[in-house]
Amino acid sequence: MALEADMLKKKALGEISKAEDVRALETLRVFYLGRKSKLSEELRGLGGLSLNERKKNGPVLHALRREFEEAFLSRSKEIGGLPGKTKNLDLTMPGKKVRFGHLHPLTKIENEIKQIFRSMNFSVIEGPEVENEYYNFDALNIPASHPAREMWDTFWLKESEKNVAGRGPQKSRLLLRTHTSPIQIRYMESHKPPFQIIVPGRVFRYEATDASHEINFYQVEGLMVGENVSVANFKFVIEEFFKKLFSSGGGSVSGRSGGVEFRFRPSYFPFVEPGLEVDIKLRGGKWLEVLGAGMVHPRVFEAAGYNPRDLQGFAFGVGLDRLAMIKYKVPDIRLFYSGDLRFIRQF
Ligand code: FA5
Repeated sequence: MALEADMLKKKALGEISKAEDVRALETLRVFYLGRKSKLSEELRGLGGLSLNERKKNGPVLHALRREFEEAFLSRSKEIGGLPGKTKNLDLTMPGKKVRFGHLHPLTKIENEIKQIFRSMNFSVIEGPEVENEYYNFDALNIPASHPAREMWDTFWLKESEKNVAGRGPQKSRLLLRTHTSPIQIRYMESHKPPFQIIVPGRVFRYEATDASHEINFYQVEGLMVGENVSVANFKFVIEEFFKKLFSSGGGSVSGRSGGVEFRFRPSYFPFVEPGLEVDIKLRGGKWLEVLGAGMVHPRVFEAAGYNPRDLQGFAFGVGLDRLAMIKYKVPDIRLFYSGDLRFIRQF
């Protein structure tokens, strides 16, 4: 009996110590400790033995069972109690961070801007990035001879014979839109006032880049038209907008309207009268221009087929990248387009 027990013990402990995973260990456990195992059979047989034999074999068999149980327990701890290659798994270790993708900061701020204007009952409209000369310039009171065309350095497209959908002359040179203002005309051609819309979109300018200028950037156009729309309405809408945009998540400077200090100043755009611009104060005290605006020029209403005597409206075009620079404290606009993940992951 002792010799048999010794052999069984050696074999079993050897196999248990080599079990690779929970499934293999469980098979061994059933084989060595299960109801039909040799050990269980022997233990059951103890009752039929003489007292002497019971005294001799009993302790040996019970000790063997204890050893097997301990061996199973310690091996099961070693392999972590999970199937597969789990030899050194420590379930008490802290979890490992999984990096999830997220929206680009410019997309984030665009979504936020849309939400803010929707809450003020503005509709969100889109328009084409490839535009024609008529909508980008002529209909906005900037004829070919007008010096103001130089305000917008333009990417002209080679295939200039084709036209894009819409009114205007049959042949009008194609370009990448230099601003979102052409959508003012497109929208007014097919809608009756009163209305208020915003048009977020990508615009392009053939100009040198620096910390606040890109050749490809984003604007949000705004247009509100009705019988009695005034500059005062414009000021209210913009103040509300800044208040909401810069109070959530923090503007960079303190002052009027929810965390940013800003100023209105007179300016000139051929498609508004009067025209103005809005600057926001940066932390160092410098002002950054973020927005051009004004009351819609009568010629623009005429180009869209409206009677300017019946209507008034304000329009604005705000630089989305510049708002993002201020909101997220980004010192250089080019970082948004760098594709540098170390930058993007901060948002
Ligand atoms: C315009 O584009 C006019 N369409 C705005 C407008 C709309 C005026 C409606 C009146 C009525 P401007 O070129 O100033 O204007 O551009 C508007 C804003 O776009 C600027 O205030 C600035 O925030 C942003 N912006 C202009 N150029 C760049 C650039 N190169 N890079 C990044 N942002 C720019």
